Amino acid sequence: MSNKKMYGFVAFLVIAATILSACGTATPTPAPTAAGSTEVEVFSWWVGPGEADGLAAMIKIFNADYPSIAFVNAAVAGGAGTNAKAVLATRLAAGDPPDSWQAHAGQETIANYVAAGQVLPLDDLFASTGLTSVLPATLLPLISQDGHPYSVPVNIHRSNVLWYNPKVLAAAGVTANPKTDFATLDAFFAVCDQVKAAGKICLSLGAPWTAIHLFENIMIGTIGAAKWNGLWTSPPTTDWAGADVTAGIANFAKALSYTNPDASTLSDWQTASKMVSDGDAAFNIMGDWAYGYFANAAPNGLALTPHTDFDWAVAPGTYGVFNFLSDSFVLPVGAKHPDAAIDWLTVAASKAGQEAFNPLKGSICARTDCNQALFSEYSQDAAKDWTSNVVVGSLMHGVVAAPAWATSIGTAIGLFQTDTTQTGSFQVALVAACAADGTCK
Ligand code: GAL
Repeated sequence: MSNKKMYGFVAFLVIAATILSACGTATPTPAPTAAGSTEVEVFSWWVGPGEADGLAAMIKIFNADYPSIAFVNAAVAGGAGTNAKAVLATRLAAGDPPDSWQAHAGQETIANYVAAGQVLPLDDLFASTGLTSVLPATLLPLISQDGHPYSVPVNIHRSNVLWYNPKVLAAAGVTANPKTDFATLDAFFAVCDQVKAAGKICLSLGAPWTAIHLFENIMIGTIGAAKWNGLWTSPPTTDWAGADVTAGIANFAKALSYTNPDASTLSDWQTASKMVSDGDAAFNIMGDWAYGYFANAAPNGLALTPHTDFDWAVAPGTYGVFNFLSDSFVLPVGAKHPDAAIDWLTVAASKAGQEAFNPLKGSICARTDCNQALFSEYSQDAAKDWTSNVVVGSLMHGVVAAPAWATSIGTAIGLFQTDTTQTGSFQVALVAACAADGTCK
């Protein structure tokens, strides 16, 4: 057994003992924890409009279940965790972890926090909450290493959603229906020409990370699910230097040509989504946290009416594909309040916690047993697609690539945005990013 494995095994024994003494039974008990922690510090990036409501609903349940533990909300603003992850890295380097933090299922958790030995396995929590039996089989491997689960998934978000303003389309004389007529990106671009001719932005874009979000969905819309998956296998079965990626890059350049020129100066994703509901843009490709923003009540939501003020379709070229990501929470090595952290994770794992959180977040439950009647029409559709579509993983949101690789791709995308004629050097940078990760030999 290597030192790292040995350390993990010892840590596992320690935490198993902690969980057993803290929980004791399979049902979470709304009582002070054994070690008597009076607070739990939970770190996420759910601060802004459309982000904060779901977390607040889950905190409410935590407060009711554990009234003697103060919930310290250490959320750091900034969509997709761009700021939060930097703050977290600094804290981890200083040996000052929060009691639990938000981490995406997939490579972000496994190749990062688990590989660095920063988080503990959660076998006993999964056993005591019965979580293993209610999680989708596709999700478990993405939060597990050597058969041990390392994080508690709270949701499933969809990345490949095309949000649109039906009034803008009607005013531009568009008769195509985004829900059925955008089987190809070319069909979408043809509509963009109409929208542009009518004097509106076709595709709104926000802060730099949203370009990576757009890139993944344009690439999937170009090469399809199987070839997208092939980019991330080791070694890749889709050639990063090949014609498929070249075609995806060409479509990405074309998509960028329809975006607002001030995109990189916008504060975050909400600004770009709001351009659609304000009628300044026709479309925005964004994850379904945008649903919470559009539909939730003020002050965190825009309280808009679905189908009238905004509508949705699967992103162009990706019909039948569900590009997914999942938010999860971890138990750090060296947490100051590990017992209270386990209480938080117990709420995050629970049916009640997920049923409170997800209808406001725009996501569906990670658990398979949530009551669908609690969810919007949008989310009920997403839940059906999640179980019937071809599921692929998001790049921007931690599923398919280790963080360092994803960062290199993001840097290349940022550079490409400044001059979209540089398709060749962009592809060279993508090839180099895969090689630097070690996945491309
Ligand atoms: C994602 C996260 C979502 C949502 C989004 C925008 O990375 O998984 O829950 O918060 O960022 O901030």
